[in-house]
Amino acid sequence: MVKVYTIASGKGGTGKTTVSVNLGTMLAQLGKETYLMDADIGMANVGLLLGLQDAPVTLHEVLAGTGKVDDAIYECPAGLKVIPAGISLQGFQQADPEKIRDVMTEIVKRCDFLLIDAPAGISKDGIVPLAVADEVILVVNPELSSIVDALKTRILTELVGGHVLGSIINRVNQDNPESMIKKMEKVLGVKVIGIIPEDPNVRRAGSARIPLVIKFPTSPASKAFRRIASGLIGVAYKDEEQDEKREGFIERFTKALFTRKA
Ligand SMILES: Nc1ncnc2c1ncn2[C@@H]1O[C@H](COP(=O)(O)OP(=O)(O)O)[C@@H](O)[C@H]1O
Ligand SMILES: [Mg+2]
Repeated sequence: MVKVYTIASGKGGTGKTTVSVNLGTMLAQLGKETYLMDADIGMANVGLLLGLQDAPVTLHEVLAGTGKVDDAIYECPAGLKVIPAGISLQGFQQADPEKIRDVMTEIVKRCDFLLIDAPAGISKDGIVPLAVADEVILVVNPELSSIVDALKTRILTELVGGHVLGSIINRVNQDNPESMIKKMEKVLGVKVIGIIPEDPNVRRAGSARIPLVIKFPTSPASKAFRRIASGLIGVAYKDEEQDEKREGFIERFTKALFTRKA
């Protein structure tokens, strides 16, 4: 069955695009036909992270009715199919966010997973992706303003008839974030489905315009993405280099999350 996940947050800059690109690439690498659509049509970043900034046809043209969906799909590393948004403001103004539903209907016929990178905030272009997904995943940073904004997004998602699967805590610095995770689950009222450490390779991969999970596959954040993707697919996480005794908290925690009963 096709699964459509919208990657959302309240605040900008929490890591939505980073999660969308790397989770998408990981799902593709694990053999799933995966599409990623950049619905952040105002601050289009997916294309930048993947070297698609010069794409001739983008979601802007499709949402403006001047381009075809098929011409806006680009094949990226690991076979991930990407529909980038354009970077021009004029293109943004002409794009009708309501048409995202039609694009989605077209895409879900062809894939196992569709990830939608959502804009921050509560404008119309931000609300449509929350309503159309099967599940919304909230990307949260371990700081109060990010958590409060994510809570608003959860409430907003439910108001428009959507459903939140859980949260991913990104940019975690602590070795023992157990109490933070408990607090996050209590405040947000949804499960934490993954935690991603602060990792300088995220920025390096971004500058190289190659997904982190391809450029630095053994980096701590890459391992976290692999665990989350494995959890979404429902397969066991495999890491040949893994030494159980040296396994860090983040790995143990994520493993426990996906083996515990919902
Ligand atoms: N786990 C991480 N470790 C280090 N830097 C990160 C991490 N996640 C995201 N970043 C950095 O944070 C910035 C914002 O990330 P981005 O994915 O663009 O956020 P959003 O799409 O939510 O606005 C980027 O510069 C990115 O490189
Ligand atoms: Mg973004």
